[in-house]
Amino acid sequence: MSGTVLDGRRISQEIQQELRPRIEALRAKSRTPTLAVVLVGDNPASQIYVRNKIKTCQELGIRSLSATPPGSIASEELLDIIRNFNSDPEVDGILVQAPLPKQVDAEAAVLAVDPSKDADGFHPCNVGNLVANRLGPRPCTPAGIIEMLKRYAIRLAGKRAVVVGRSDIVGKPMALMLMHENATVTICHSRTENLAEECRRADLLVVAMGKPALITSNYIKPGAVVVDVGMNRITDESEARRLFSHDASRLAAFAKNGSTLVGDVEPFAMEELASAYTPVPGGVGPLTIAMLMANTVKLAEQHLCPGC
Ligand code: GUN
Repeated sequence: MSGTVLDGRRISQEIQQELRPRIEALRAKSRTPTLAVVLVGDNPASQIYVRNKIKTCQELGIRSLSATPPGSIASEELLDIIRNFNSDPEVDGILVQAPLPKQVDAEAAVLAVDPSKDADGFHPCNVGNLVANRLGPRPCTPAGIIEMLKRYAIRLAGKRAVVVGRSDIVGKPMALMLMHENATVTICHSRTENLAEECRRADLLVVAMGKPALITSNYIKPGAVVVDVGMNRITDESEARRLFSHDASRLAAFAKNGSTLVGDVEPFAMEELASAYTPVPGGVGPLTIAMLMANTVKLAEQHLCPGC
């Protein structure tokens, strides 16, 4: 058996196309949606993520501003950058790319973002809105996953959903969103006993642990829907051969580039056992950007017409 591929690239394009007329309408009213991006230091992965976010803004006609202070920045200086964006009436959304360097108070940075400009939905006010199922910007990755599952008509009500990982960015908000969709939700994490047994109960398994190919066939109920949020770059050739022995094109790409991406789920296990699954890359990643754009447009609409 080979499951349905949940095509994040296609859904991301769909979401972006639907945003275009809303962006046009805002621009026609002289309210060009504007996203301010703060990228601290020179983390290569963060640089790629931010570049892709800015590129997508450009493609859609969303204005982007960026601040790229050095990794040595002091907390107060970073807070000043955020406060400047807060007080700029043209800025609709603010994003502070994680992770931040050790000397920076990451919690203070999240708290400094004006909740009405919180493009990531990370401010405690918006976390509270999510808990209470009230309107407000939602964290992009879990919001994108829910949007994709709905567009593939995957039923969540009454289903057993298991979320592996309890981060503020993915695991926690994912569990809350699935609960609001009436799934029966279990959250697992690094201290969970019998993780395989918990996962095997899942009709929907969402994995966001950041551990390459942690989830093997022993963790997946045949016919489950599997969403793999992991994005791990592997450079070990024997590991690549083991994980992609069934995928000649991937092995060829590894031979050419010296690395490849693998999720938190063993690819062959997921492809063989799941009724539907997100590939890595091309699954969850593109959805995160689409939802960031959607959050920015929504914030701009609210700034143009508060209470609408
Ligand atoms: N780092 C990894 N994912 C994210 C995200 O969704 N938003 C921000 N700001 N940083 C991240």
